[in-house]
Amino acid sequence: MVPAFEFTELRLPGLAPGMLGIGTRYEPMGEPVLEAAGIQLPPALATAVPSRQLEYLAGRACAVEACRRLGLDATPATTGLHREPIWPAGVVGSITHSHGEAMAVIAPSSACRSLGVDIEHIVDLQKAEDLFSVIADPAEADVLKDLTGNNLALIFTLIFCAKEAIFKATWPFVRRFIDFDEVKLVAAKSGSLTFAADAPLASQLASPGLPPVTFAAATSSITTLCIYR
Ligand SMILES: CC(C)(COP(=O)(O)OP(=O)(O)OC[C@H]1O[C@@H](n2cnc3c(N)ncnc32)[C@H](O)[C@@H]1OP(=O)(O)O)[C@@H](O)C(=O)NCCC(=O)NCCS
Repeated sequence: MVPAFEFTELRLPGLAPGMLGIGTRYEPMGEPVLEAAGIQLPPALATAVPSRQLEYLAGRACAVEACRRLGLDATPATTGLHREPIWPAGVVGSITHSHGEAMAVIAPSSACRSLGVDIEHIVDLQKAEDLFSVIADPAEADVLKDLTGNNLALIFTLIFCAKEAIFKATWPFVRRFIDFDEVKLVAAKSGSLTFAADAPLASQLASPGLPPVTFAAATSSITTLCIYR
């Protein structure tokens, strides 16, 4: 069965002219699907659970649709050894999915060098308390107090979501796992976060510092975007 994805153009803060965000919703526990819009599952997902196959296809379908609308090569991105999408020549992009929502942000390579997008559903307080020290330190939480008050669930989700977007955007320059404590939140204002990389990571980056992370908060989720211009 081929799912008929319906696409929405996303209004994400931080998107520059020429870049496009496309989203879709799917039934997370939907029927198994093997291909959509000419998209093949990578061998590693041939025996994955149906929900994983479906989120992969939904994310790729968003990317294909965004490339098509931008007039770029809409050949579906393949998947690298480390799960990174491998885009056609001339295309820069990133994919995320969560809780039945998938999105891709795409740009021509003339518009930016790399980008990362992430969506996270706001975690419950218990999870935030249990895992906060894994992803950030108290000084980083303090940076967000003016924006979020003491809402630890929101603070956790926002920092986590932003670091995931940084990881995806930074991957092409470092091609290695980046630990959460290699990147610290140092400033925040409405819709935009500033992070600093520690010295070893900073020396590997192809730019003087990390780009700002822009974000949008919905009722139950946060979306972040990190773009190396
Ligand atoms: C890979 C990772 C970023 C996925 O994030 P997630 O929130 O679990 O899942 P999302 O749905 O948002 O993103 C998954 C998509 O990210 C993309 N992705 C995976 N690995 C990637 C990489 N190395 N580089 C760029 N994009 C990558 C893929 O498109 C993937 O979807 P697909 O497998 O269906 O194609 C995360 O699991 C991870 O391993 N993070 C590494 C540690 C980290 O984030 N450190 C932050 C320090 S700055």
